[in-house]
Amino acid sequence: MKKTKIAGIGHYLPERVVSNKELESLMDTTDEWITERTGIRERRFGERHKETTTTMGARAAEKAIADAGIQKEEVDFIIFATLSPDYFFPGCGVLVQRELGISDTEVGALDIRNQCSGFVYGLSVADQYIKTGVYKNILLIGAEMHSMGLDFTTRGRNVSVIFGDGAGAVILQPTEAEDQGVLTSHLHSDGRHAEELAFLSPGCHGGYHGAKELYGFSDSTFDTVFVTQKMLDDALIYPHMNGKYVFKFAVQKFPAVIMEALGTAGFQPSDLDMLIPHQANLRISQFVQKVLKLTDDQVFNNIQRYGNTTAASIPIALSEARDEGRVKRGDLVCLAAFGSGFTWGASLLRW
Ligand code: ACO
Repeated sequence: MKKTKIAGIGHYLPERVVSNKELESLMDTTDEWITERTGIRERRFGERHKETTTTMGARAAEKAIADAGIQKEEVDFIIFATLSPDYFFPGCGVLVQRELGISDTEVGALDIRNQCSGFVYGLSVADQYIKTGVYKNILLIGAEMHSMGLDFTTRGRNVSVIFGDGAGAVILQPTEAEDQGVLTSHLHSDGRHAEELAFLSPGCHGGYHGAKELYGFSDSTFDTVFVTQKMLDDALIYPHMNGKYVFKFAVQKFPAVIMEALGTAGFQPSDLDMLIPHQANLRISQFVQKVLKLTDDQVFNNIQRYGNTTAASIPIALSEARDEGRVKRGDLVCLAAFGSGFTWGASLLRW
């Protein structure tokens, strides 16, 4: 059977650099607090009213398409992973198709809603299509415009200092090469923790999370209100994160799923040339590195410069690692993610 190779890769980061110092002017926080707890020194924010998750995804896609040496019209399927879509619906898949000017091709466009694990989930889906010969040039994008939906007051500081904007994309093609391609992917989820890291409102829950009063819904059968004044007043329209809770699970599930992928393919951590962990928090990556006894050369981190870009973090990091010569042809590379849902997963591939 054919395998799936990453034939082209690219990333896009908005120009505007936002330092921790700049955030200090918006909320009660300090550069020291952010650096010590997360490793983040700065992040990028997209240009308001000009850039969106879709446009950033399209810029990354153009680079990946050029890197693969194909024409954009040759893309035969689109997969778009994001938690910060331009619209509630339709998804960014069709929007990026339009932004790239390839709507005439009428190729399918699939949206992935697995937050930080979105890119790993998307890669696994694409792998099934490529291996079975259904598609030959899949465009997989991870992109986020977090800065449009965060609470930049002191109230939201535990979340807003962590996230940044950006996009990464790959072109996936079949390969017959023995020493190249995706070897194995492992996907997991546990919905019992859904509300521990979530963007709850507005939504169609109608107060179902056992807290009708929290959202300000009435008892009327015909209460079809989607956004309540209470949601706005109480800042329920921003992401909620139970940081310590997330941290505790992340440091368990990351190493477990990496070991699962390595074990399935008959490898050990010492065989890895590069681990690209989802850039959630530098402390999480360092913990995983320690548990797996990996050297600094075996792990790639760039959260210091970009913050947590959720679905975009793995393709941005992989693209930078390739550009810097830290991922080379034939290298054993592991992509691993953990995030909201909870969902987590890992893919092992030969570059
Ligand atoms: N600046 C200054 N003080 C802050 C800030 C801030 N930005 N945010 C919170 N604080 C305060 C809190 O109010 C609290 O004050 P108190 O003790 O007076 O009540 C104190 O700092 C400690 O807050 P905690 O939330 O308990 O801080 P913690 O040590 O847990 O660190 C953090 C928070 C960095 C979010 C940590 O829990 C973490 O890394 N969790 C993992 C979650 C994660 O990485 N999320 C990324 C996105 S999810 C994903 O991609 C997997």
